[in-house]
Amino acid sequence: MKILVAGGAGFIGSHLCEKLLMEGHEVICVDNLITGSEKNVNHFKKDKKFILLKHDVTLPLAQNMHADAVFHLASPASPNHHSLLSYHNLPMETMLVNTIGTLELLKFVMQNEAKFLFASSSEVYGDPLEHPQKETYFGNVSAVGPRSVYDEAKRFGETITFHFFRKYKIDIRIARIFNTYGPKMLKDDMRMIITFILEALQGRPITVFGDGQQTRSLCYVDDMIDGLNRLMFLPNTRGEIINLGSTNEHTVLEYAEMIKKITKSKSLIVFSEKLPQDDPKKRKPDITQAQKILDWQPHIKLEEGLGKMIDYCKKNIL
Ligand SMILES: NC(=O)c1ccc[n+]([C@@H]2O[C@H](COP(=O)([O-])OP(=O)(O)OC[C@H]3O[C@@H](n4cnc5c(N)ncnc54)[C@H](O)[C@@H]3O)[C@@H](O)[C@H]2O)c1
Repeated sequence: MKILVAGGAGFIGSHLCEKLLMEGHEVICVDNLITGSEKNVNHFKKDKKFILLKHDVTLPLAQNMHADAVFHLASPASPNHHSLLSYHNLPMETMLVNTIGTLELLKFVMQNEAKFLFASSSEVYGDPLEHPQKETYFGNVSAVGPRSVYDEAKRFGETITFHFFRKYKIDIRIARIFNTYGPKMLKDDMRMIITFILEALQGRPITVFGDGQQTRSLCYVDDMIDGLNRLMFLPNTRGEIINLGSTNEHTVLEYAEMIKKITKSKSLIVFSEKLPQDDPKKRKPDITQAQKILDWQPHIKLEEGLGKMIDYCKKNIL
């Protein structure tokens, strides 16, 4: 199959390209490198089945291009206000890629009679009043709140994807991705796990926001790729909206302590910063649908995943 991965030079996208190439597919990675890095895909370039196309997906793709399936993973994803790569600091880019970008990709999918997967987010649930969150939960999201440029853009991305499904019978599915971690996360996007690991390895204080009692459930990237693949290619997935993520919930403080222990770091854990106003208190998916429809659940244990990521950081970032 010929598969287009929009956002393929990013963290999740580059792992997906690798998996698809290993399975023998041809891969067109389309990325404008706004938050991704060419380094993530450089080693695939010697593979004749791989092409990197530097292109902004809010603009139409060339008429003569073809693909059998399109993964739309293109979007800034970091919520950290301090990072220049976060959606707070790329608000127009984030809104446009999830709205106009989704429209352009859907037009391409329609012309090609291809399959389509939109990478949505747990953020469509906002600051949830239901815990854990099922796909049927409509969410608690502010249209104008600090995270709205991302949350509402993802919600509109889902709406337009579903419109094409209802009106034009396009073969679509939506993945609501929950926090994912692993090698190739960029240190500059300053998401929690990479920041804690680098602080621990460099002997700097590990900085926990608030009292650290807010919870997160983190999925290792290999499990996420397996879930995305199943959602795209299993026969019974057309029109499905499915949560993908780990149900193994820990407090942010517990993550900091685990990373300190695995890295044998002497870093102090400090609580020096206030909890950002929009920081969700709890995040955990209900993955009953993924288990039922995809026969999927994460398998990689937290200690194992953190170990792999720490090795990656030692070899590639320090
Ligand atoms: N990583 C997570 O924990 C997580 C959680 C929920 C949802 N998601 C979603 O999964 C997808 C991938 O996330 P990620 O963590 O790999 O992020 P990432 O920032 O590492 O990757 C996104 C990629 O999209 C590219 N991109 C952005 N705008 C583009 C545009 N207009 N045209 C072409 N390319 C563009 C970036 O350059 C980057 O390579 C995103 O849609 C994100 O919203 C991720």
